[in-house]
Amino acid sequence: HCHAVILAGGSGTRLWPYSRTLLPKQLLALTGETTMLQQTAVRSMEVFGTESIWVVTNEEQVFEVRGQLAALEPQLEAQVLAEPMGRNTLPAILLGMDRALTADPEALVAVFPSDHLIHKPEIWREALTRGAALAREGWFVTFGVVPDKPETGYGYIKQGAPLGDDCFEVGAFVEKPDLATAEQFVRGGEHFWNSGMFVFNVAAFVAAVEKHEPELAAWWHGRDEQSLMDGYSKLPNISVDYGIMEKVSQQAVVKADFGWDDLGSWEALHRLGDKDDKGNVVQGDVLNLDSEDCLLFSRGGKLAAVELKGMIVVQTRDATLICPTSKVQRVKDVVNQLKGEG
Ligand code: GDD
Ligand code: MG
Repeated sequence: HCHAVILAGGSGTRLWPYSRTLLPKQLLALTGETTMLQQTAVRSMEVFGTESIWVVTNEEQVFEVRGQLAALEPQLEAQVLAEPMGRNTLPAILLGMDRALTADPEALVAVFPSDHLIHKPEIWREALTRGAALAREGWFVTFGVVPDKPETGYGYIKQGAPLGDDCFEVGAFVEKPDLATAEQFVRGGEHFWNSGMFVFNVAAFVAAVEKHEPELAAWWHGRDEQSLMDGYSKLPNISVDYGIMEKVSQQAVVKADFGWDDLGSWEALHRLGDKDDKGNVVQGDVLNLDSEDCLLFSRGGKLAAVELKGMIVVQTRDATLICPTSKVQRVKDVVNQLKGEG
């Protein structure tokens, strides 16, 4: 049997001012009626069944997360776990696994981020099936997407020896390389983007945690005597990528073109959005006079744009972003400066 742990505790800032600490991008309806978290839950319920879905978030966001999931399926509300504070993805996965597993060492766990889109769910399901078969044999399985630009916000996976059926051993795992390295990877054609999803069997995963992160293993094994929440603040802050995936030996990658998009910036929303005949993506109360290739979003009153070109304008009730699309990476500098002020 396979359980799904959905990670929903991150605090993305690249979509400021829509996304804030309390409302990161997975909790926003950016592309339609439902949020990325809700889409992730729906996809997962179809494959794993409602009773096998566990969602891990933190105390600050848990109210919103429970509400969004209850709106889909009331039963899910009770399957949301709240960390007392964020300690990154590895402790979060262990927390989710605790509830997912009773005494089934054969069980598989699939881990899903909640902050990306999948445009071709049928191909995603088929990739999962291949991944689960490998996980049953003891492989730590990741899902690789063929990169089309040198994105530095992702992990890269080097393709190793073939395991058949578009599956490969992992040659190397490189989390968030610098731009020069990323460019080399894209040119070389031997690297995938890490889509951030994993499948593994529980026994193998726990053994890897024992070996590489003994402090976390001790905390997890102590859960009969003491609630996992109690020791949480003292845990190391470590992602599953750095803590486990880069270190284990039996790693596999399933190559799959499931129309993956991390939606990491306003530029991505412009690229993916429905455009008018002048290439604008418009949402909310916007009056546009002859602008071209712009993203014009308002959630806070009327926004009027006159003959803008290649601009991103995002208005909320208490903050506005105006930025050329080509400079969108600098939004994170805005957030950093605002944090400095706070
Ligand atoms: N519960 C919980 N607690 N969830 C968390 C925490 C935490 O402390 N930190 C992050 N998450 C959630 C996020 O909400 C997201 O859904 C997922 O875990 C991944 O975390 P991110 O912080 O978004 O990671 P990333 O985008 O920098 O990198 C990961 O994803 C990339 C693809 O989107 C890595 O796996 C990269 O290798 C990968 O390319
Ligand atoms: Mg992310």
